[in-house]
Amino acid sequence: MAKLQTLAFEVNGEAVELAVRSQETLLEVLRERLELTGSKEGCGEGVCGACTVLVDGAPRRACLTLALEAQGGQVLTVEGLADGAELSLEQQAFVETGAVQCGFCTPGMLLASHDLLSRQEQPDEAAIRQQLSGHICRCTGYAKIVEAVALAADRRAKGEAS
Ligand code: FES
Ligand code: FES
Repeated sequence: MAKLQTLAFEVNGEAVELAVRSQETLLEVLRERLELTGSKEGCGEGVCGACTVLVDGAPRRACLTLALEAQGGQVLTVEGLADGAELSLEQQAFVETGAVQCGFCTPGMLLASHDLLSRQEQPDEAAIRQQLSGHICRCTGYAKIVEAVALAADRRAKGEAS
């Protein structure tokens, strides 16, 4: 029987403790154990970006991250972006610009955008495209997604949103 180890970390601001197998991925723990199914499994090989979450503020491919690597850390998933019924700056901009079609890539795109906006006051289009370059979208053609991130950055710079 696989040996279990205790994983203690924070997910979306809440303390979580559970027993995990050493080879269990962060994506498996989030989706299957904690029922946080916003993080998607696209390729399962680190290529598509659909599983991206923030671990201690940095984007990580949850499909390639062992759950135990997040020991003692803070994980942010798409479920943690909104404040109750109030969408985050990025979520609101994605909705308004029509940056979401099937939505499969959207959680990863949102977290990558959140990371970028937390580090850069007003990223230009090249910086936005660079940040999203590892994220595959089959539907939108990317233009609306780039527009959404630029809108969110613009609003924050103008103090229209926090
Ligand atoms: S599912 Fe993790 S990068 Fe594609
Ligand atoms: S909206 Fe469908 S994959 Fe991006």
